[in-house]
Amino acid sequence: MSDFQDGTRVVHAGLPEPVVGEPFLPGPVFAAPYHLDPAEGPGENDYARTAHPTRRQLEAAIGQLEGAPTLVFASGQAAITALLLSVLRAGDTVALPADGYFTVRAFAEGTLRGLGVSTVLVPTAGPYPDFSGVRLVLLETPANPGLDVCDINAVAAAAHAAGALVAVDNTTATPLGQLPLALGADVVVASGTKALTGHSDVLLGYVATGDDELFAKVETWRKQTGGVPGAFDCWLAHRSIATLDLRLARQTENAAAVASLLSARDDVTGVRWPGLASDPSYPVASAQMRRIPGVISFDLGSAERVARFLTAASLVFAATSFGGVHTTADRRAQWGDDTPAGFVRLSCGIEDPADLLADLTAALDQA
Ligand SMILES: Cc1ncc(COP(=O)(O)O)c(C=O)c1O
Repeated sequence: MSDFQDGTRVVHAGLPEPVVGEPFLPGPVFAAPYHLDPAEGPGENDYARTAHPTRRQLEAAIGQLEGAPTLVFASGQAAITALLLSVLRAGDTVALPADGYFTVRAFAEGTLRGLGVSTVLVPTAGPYPDFSGVRLVLLETPANPGLDVCDINAVAAAAHAAGALVAVDNTTATPLGQLPLALGADVVVASGTKALTGHSDVLLGYVATGDDELFAKVETWRKQTGGVPGAFDCWLAHRSIATLDLRLARQTENAAAVASLLSARDDVTGVRWPGLASDPSYPVASAQMRRIPGVISFDLGSAERVARFLTAASLVFAATSFGGVHTTADRRAQWGDDTPAGFVRLSCGIEDPADLLADLTAALDQA
């Protein structure tokens, strides 16, 4: 499948060989224990926390897209914390993005610090420190919600020279947007809750790595802590991946149109979209990424104006997620994220571009 284009790869990702009379994508298997052979012991499936057929199919699909064996988790946070806790030990230092998903920093400041792990916060746009003494560098690019982008190859080379492992959170880009492992990272973590599955109906996370020892550590962690996704969520996620290429194409098209609309207005400031030629992230993003995601950020000046904008818009749902088929917007400061009161993260859905532009223009005019 790796010789095919994205649209073909996502339709076929993780599907079993055709069997006459069987579905293309077998339905979810609802079972916790499986029949064992009394003489031979376990077969391929024994107990759902350790081995599950529907989950294995989804892992094959994501693994084909990321380019490495993959373990899925019940959420992105379950995946990220599984990596951190499998790798880090008392006395270690982890480098985290200062401007990435805030719950990861909160976890570091609470649980990791309590375990004796120190954290260095690094802005995604740099400058990057000397990584001597750092055990693991986690990058998030593009960073959520500010959308700065970093050069994975360059940071990975510096981190490896200092003996650190490099992880990249690929949530916003998805594996069709960038391939961190091919760019030099050791491991990918991501929330599949966002664009990967894209229908705002599943919580999912994953860890993908070609490092067998690391894979085994994370797999043992998952087996012993139990944060696996359920069969139906795995099946829904797998079904959704088939349309990833189409969804991303429309989201990017909408984001390009919305970013130029917002940039042309003098009542909107700080517009960020890595696909805009004027954006500070543009040079690295256009060199490193295969496509630019549908997420934009900007500032409307105050919480009140954001509320008026969201009330006036009929095609923009207020929601704290992104990457879905519906256009959504989130005023990040309401969650305690370190952003200005009027800062908005807008995630373009797959609506018709003309309808979306007209709705956004009218809502901004009213706000
Ligand atoms: C970049 C990034 N990583 C990880 C997560 C956590 O994912 P989940 O909500 O699936 O646990 C999020 C959630 O918004 C995110 O934006």
